[in-house]
Amino acid sequence: ANVYKIGCMPGDGIGAEVIESAVAVLRACETKCGDFKLEFTDLPYGTAYYKQTGAYLPPDGLDTIRKFDAILFGAVGMPDVPDSVSLWGLLLAMRGPLQQYANLRPVKCLKSIVPAVRTAKPEDIDWVLVRENSEGEYAGQGGRSHRGFDWEVATELAIFTRHGARRILRYAFEIAQARPRKLLTVVSKSNAQRYGMVMWDEVALEVSKEFPDVKWDKMLVDAMTVRMVHKPETLDTIVGSNLHMDILSDLAAALAASIGIAPSANIDPTRQSPSMFEPVHGSAFDIMGKGIANPFGAVWSAAMMLDFLGEAKAGKMIMDAMDSCCEIGQTTGDLGGSLNTAQVTEALIKAINGY
Ligand code: NAD
Ligand code: IPM
Ligand code: MN
Repeated sequence: ANVYKIGCMPGDGIGAEVIESAVAVLRACETKCGDFKLEFTDLPYGTAYYKQTGAYLPPDGLDTIRKFDAILFGAVGMPDVPDSVSLWGLLLAMRGPLQQYANLRPVKCLKSIVPAVRTAKPEDIDWVLVRENSEGEYAGQGGRSHRGFDWEVATELAIFTRHGARRILRYAFEIAQARPRKLLTVVSKSNAQRYGMVMWDEVALEVSKEFPDVKWDKMLVDAMTVRMVHKPETLDTIVGSNLHMDILSDLAAALAASIGIAPSANIDPTRQSPSMFEPVHGSAFDIMGKGIANPFGAVWSAAMMLDFLGEAKAGKMIMDAMDSCCEIGQTTGDLGGSLNTAQVTEALIKAINGY
């Protein structure tokens, strides 16, 4: 049997609650399928670890992480640590250095779930958002001078490279080409952002010539929000910069019912580093500790992990289990149900055991 080494990093808040669920579902799948094995190693990184050691990741943290076949990540961020410290300490300290430059965020309505917008039909929302995940607005460069004075100046530098744009656009065209509709929308803001985004549009045109069978168009990010709400059926694969797609992916998840279901895969397409799978949502201060978080985002991310590892049959089993729970209303409150995290996990496992 194939054996996969999984680094399991639950992190903070509901991150830990939903990862516990995802691991239980993965275990059920492993037992049911019987033809692969998952070796989990718990990685304790998160805010508690930071408070103990003074760092979110130890100095050799990235080397430790590189030894795994994949990472399953929950969320990071707690009310008593500035978000910029926790996020740059852990999550963003992994995505960039591990060159997980493609962030895949599929969005669709699960069975019998209705979109948040009245005019949309469930089948209208079936998208793959491709987010540039290593540079752009998240380059992490900038600074502040004269902190606190009225004449303080702060800069936040966005860095776009031709290499970075080309590789993510190519990746997005490949995803679009592999989907039935072969449809790609390239998002930018090349009217106001006149350097990086103009280059981005130019590179899109160049790369498009390698994919004559893909139908593609361009959208400015502001107008894109409107199109997602009013004409969801005209969209399929969507690609954009780090910040633009961060925002559009929360919107997309909300349109498909709830941020609680949204999965993501931080992928190094070269496979030199492990890829990392995590729900799109954060640690959810308002509901953490209550045991009511929707585990679907983490569970769907686990399904993406299995797909990525080459266990597509097992991944599909998890997707089917989520669909069947939705169909019979065995969901958390954000999807209209009345179950808690543990009960939904049980329902998912029951569905898997029945296959
Ligand atoms: P959030 O995603 O944590 O929460 C936004 C809203 O969505 C909240 O009302 C929350 O209750 C709800 N929600 C989120 N996930 C849910 C789920 N699984 N089930 C039911 N409801 C869910 O975003 P935020 O409030 O902006 O951020 C809170 C903290 O998390 C901050 O520290 C932020 O920086 C961090 N964050 C981390 C990640 C990550 O680690 N990947 C992602 C986003 C935010
Ligand atoms: C996400 C999150 C992160 C991001 C934050 C927490 C840094 O919102 O994964 O979407 O902006 O990438
Ligand atoms: Mn986000």
